[in-house]
Amino acid sequence: MGLTYFKRFRMEIDLAQHLLRAGPLPLGYRLVPWHAATIEAHAEAKYHSFRHELDANVFPCLGDPEGCYRLMLEISRKEGFLPGATWLLEYRPQARSARPTSHPPPGPSEPEMPVASGMPARGCATNGQPAVEYCGTIQGICDRSGVGAIQNFGVTPEHRGRGLGTQLMAASLAGFARSGIRRVYLEVTAQNEAAIRLYTRLGFVKVRTIYKAVELGALSLFG
Ligand SMILES: CC(C)(COP(=O)(O)OP(=O)(O)OC[C@H]1O[C@@H](n2cnc3c(N)ncnc32)[C@H](O)[C@@H]1OP(=O)(O)O)[C@@H](O)C(=O)NCCC(=O)NCCS
Repeated sequence: MGLTYFKRFRMEIDLAQHLLRAGPLPLGYRLVPWHAATIEAHAEAKYHSFRHELDANVFPCLGDPEGCYRLMLEISRKEGFLPGATWLLEYRPQARSARPTSHPPPGPSEPEMPVASGMPARGCATNGQPAVEYCGTIQGICDRSGVGAIQNFGVTPEHRGRGLGTQLMAASLAGFARSGIRRVYLEVTAQNEAAIRLYTRLGFVKVRTIYKAVELGALSLFG
């Protein structure tokens, strides 16, 4: 079977120089800290973030719900898994309409949806829409040399371009910093311009080029 090669970059950030401060999340969104009970929600967010992307060809398990679940299980069982650098993003459509219209909007010092400490909830809103949508995920591990590594970082297509990826990344990097980790890296496919732009804007720099071999039989058409 033939092989094809995907060009990828290793990018790194020095947290001593770039600690991100994210503002409040848009209304209806909240960041959920890691808990073993969130594993399926992470897998769901991962699948919907990656299934139509190039990376689902580079890593075929990303294009399969079961593959995403197994990957989450594997990551969460790694020796260096960092719960504090692992975050889920959830969206509650009804939270947008729950606010009484007669009340004034909150001021800038009053976050509309603060970072949560609880687990995500499931259910169905009365209009048939899901009560909760899992729309973003990021996971962190620490390698044997004490350097942090971001695993899979994704926001589902309908929720992109609102600063949510930046917020997820900021929450994860803060978690690495709290664990005393100074350097964090990730790998990104060279054609993934949106992600590379985001990483560069946040302070990541390219440190190495890698070629990832993929069996041609594992490739599928995008979309
Ligand atoms: C990469 C990815 C996570 C970015 O998520 P995102 O939520 O769109 O990220 P952000 O909204 O924070 O940033 C995207 C752009 O929106 C802009 N933006 C930020 N806040 C915004 C706001 N409130 N309103 C409008 N645009 C905004 C940002 O400036 C950014 O612009 P840039 O492209 O010039 O950097 C998302 O594209 C994705 O999941 N891709 C598929 C999976 C993937 O490839 N993951 C990376 C693997 S290495």
